[in-house]
Amino acid sequence: MAKGLEIIAAADLKNGIGKDGDLLAHLSPDLKRLRMMTTGNIIVMGRKTYLSFPKRPLPDRENIVLTSRPEDFPQIRCFSSTDELLSYTDKAEKTVYVLGGGEVYRCLLPYCTKIHLTRILHEFEGADTFFPDIDVMPEWEKTLEGEVITTEKYPFRYDEYKRV
Ligand SMILES: NC(=O)c1ccc[n+]([C@@H]2O[C@H](COP(=O)([O-])OP(=O)(O)OC[C@H]3O[C@@H](n4cnc5c(N)ncnc54)[C@H](OP(=O)(O)O)[C@@H]3O)[C@@H](O)[C@H]2O)c1
Repeated sequence: MAKGLEIIAAADLKNGIGKDGDLLAHLSPDLKRLRMMTTGNIIVMGRKTYLSFPKRPLPDRENIVLTSRPEDFPQIRCFSSTDELLSYTDKAEKTVYVLGGGEVYRCLLPYCTKIHLTRILHEFEGADTFFPDIDVMPEWEKTLEGEVITTEKYPFRYDEYKRV
């Protein structure tokens, strides 16, 4: 049985996660970490996030897309509702990672038990997609605040939250 869904996200200091259909920043250690965590497991994303990947599906892991138009993606597994997705992931033997974007984070957050949040220590101008403000939600507790990493264009750290 699945242990509960886990979110992976990268958000700036105002919880911005995207602009014009793209990420706010491409931090290569973070993207490498995402690849390592999700390889061999299951990833779930919204149609817009899936279409933003330059190469898709992402290799060596099961890609699942949420969309009202599953017929547009015959090569991968799609679900057109949260309930359909959850009845599939409930039976999964692998860890299910939710990769976004904003709409999908919002609708799947109640079913998640863990959040791997890369906090980018910067405020980007013009972000148009946001992560929920989990620091003010009593059901989420920050269980890990990583060291600040300064090797990239923007400083960032790996934080972790668990459902209380
Ligand atoms: N920083 C990060 O960690 C991160 C991660 C991922 C994405 N992003 C960014 O976030 C932005 C995209 O996010 P977004 O909120 O615009 O779009 P999204 O969540 O990626 O996709 C939204 C689409 O997913 C489908 N969908 C969502 N919930 C559904 C449900 N419960 N049942 C069925 N279908 C559902 C719908 O597709 P249909 O219209 O086909 O019905 C909806 O239009 C981009 O800028 C991307 O780069 C950032």
